[in-house]
Amino acid sequence: MKPFLEVKNLTVEFPTEDGTVQATEDVSFSLDLGETLAIVGESGCGKSVSNMAIMGLHNPKRTQISGSAIFNLESGPIDAINTDSETLRKMRGKTMSMIFQDPMSSLHPYYTVGNQIAEAWHLHNEGSRKTGAKRAAEMLDLVGIPDSHKRINDFPHQFSGGMRQRVMIAMAVVNNPKLLIADEPTTALDVTVQSQILTLLKTMQKEFNMAIILITHDLGVVASIADRINVMYAGRLVEQGTVDEIFYKSVHPYTLGLLGSIPRVDQSIDKRLKTIQGQPPSLIELPSGCAFEPRCEFATHVPKGLCKTSRPETTEKSIGHFARCHLSAAEIYEINRFQKADR
Ligand SMILES: Nc1ncnc2c1ncn2[C@@H]1O[C@H](COP(=O)(O)OP(=O)(O)OP(=O)(O)O)[C@@H](O)[C@H]1O
Ligand code: SF4
Ligand SMILES: [Mg+2]
Repeated sequence: MKPFLEVKNLTVEFPTEDGTVQATEDVSFSLDLGETLAIVGESGCGKSVSNMAIMGLHNPKRTQISGSAIFNLESGPIDAINTDSETLRKMRGKTMSMIFQDPMSSLHPYYTVGNQIAEAWHLHNEGSRKTGAKRAAEMLDLVGIPDSHKRINDFPHQFSGGMRQRVMIAMAVVNNPKLLIADEPTTALDVTVQSQILTLLKTMQKEFNMAIILITHDLGVVASIADRINVMYAGRLVEQGTVDEIFYKSVHPYTLGLLGSIPRVDQSIDKRLKTIQGQPPSLIELPSGCAFEPRCEFATHVPKGLCKTSRPETTEKSIGHFARCHLSAAEIYEINRFQKADR
C-alpha cells in the first residue's frame, strides 16, 4: 500500500536582489496516517519553508518550487505542489492543517475563540450558527479547556499561552484533518506546558488517526512523541531514521553534534555539554562540497579533501536509515568511539 504522503525532491527557492536563496533542496520523505515525523535542525535550515510549500502557503510570484507532495487519498492521489489554488483551498483544514509557534499570529484578537473555531468548521461544513457554536464548545472540551460553554465567548487575550495553543490545536483539527503540521508548537511555552501540549497532540492523533509532522529545533523534545526523525541542515535532509536509529545509531556528524548538545540524565555533571562550533552557511552561496564541512569534526577522516569538493549523495546506511555523508556507518561509529574516549 502506498504511504499517505509522499514528498519527492521538494526544492524551494526565493529569488532575491542578492541572489537565489536555496531554502530547501531535494527533500524526499514519506509518512503514514497515525505516524509522527519530527523535522529537526537549527534555525534557518528550511524546516518551515518546506512544510509551507506542502500547505501551498508560499507566494507563487516570489517563490520557485519544484518536486511533488502526493497525498494518497481515498478519492485518489493529489499532488499538493502541482495542483491549482482552488484544490489547495479545499485541502487546507480538511486534508492538511498547520499550527505555528505563536498562536497570536493565527488567532484574531477581536473575535471570540468560539467564533474562530466555528468559522474554521463552517469553511468545510454546512450548518447553522448554533451547530457551529456547539462544535466549537466540543472542540474546547476535547483539547482540555474547562467550562467550554462559557469560554467560547472569551477572546484570545483572556487565555494563557498554553491555553491559546490548545485553542489553535482545536481550530486546526476541527475538520478532522489527515495531516497536522505543528511548527515549533511548544517553543514559547515553559517545560511543563510543553509536555502537556505534546501529550495533547498525541491524544488528538489517536482521536483522528492523523499523520503529524512536528517541526522543532530541539531534538530533546521529539524522543517521546516521534516515530521517525528527519534531520535538516542548510536546506537538505542529512539523516532520516527511526527515533532509536537517530538517538542511538546516528550515522551523520551533524546529528551527532546535535545529540551532544542535549542534557542527559545519565551524564555526569562535570562533563560539559558540547555545542557545534560555527554557523550554517549562507543559503545563497552554498559551498561546492558538503555544506557541513566547515563545522565538521569528521571531515579530516575523509581522504583527498573530498568533503570540500564533492557534495555527498543520500545513501541508505541500513534498511530505512538514510544519510548524506561520504563516510560509511562503520567509519562514523569508529571515529565517534575514539572522539568520545578522548573527551
Ligand atoms: N520569503 C523569503 N524570501 C527569502 N528568503 C526566505 C524567505 N522565507 C524564508 N527564507 C529563508 O529560507 C531559509 C529557511 O527558512 P525557514 O523559515 O524554513 O527556516 P527554519 O528552519 O524554519 O528556521 P526557524 O527554526 O528559525 O524557524 C532561511 O534562510 C530564511 O531566511
Ligand atoms: S561528508 Fe564530510 S563534511 Fe560532510 S558530514 Fe560527512 S564527513 Fe562531515
Ligand atoms: Mg521555522
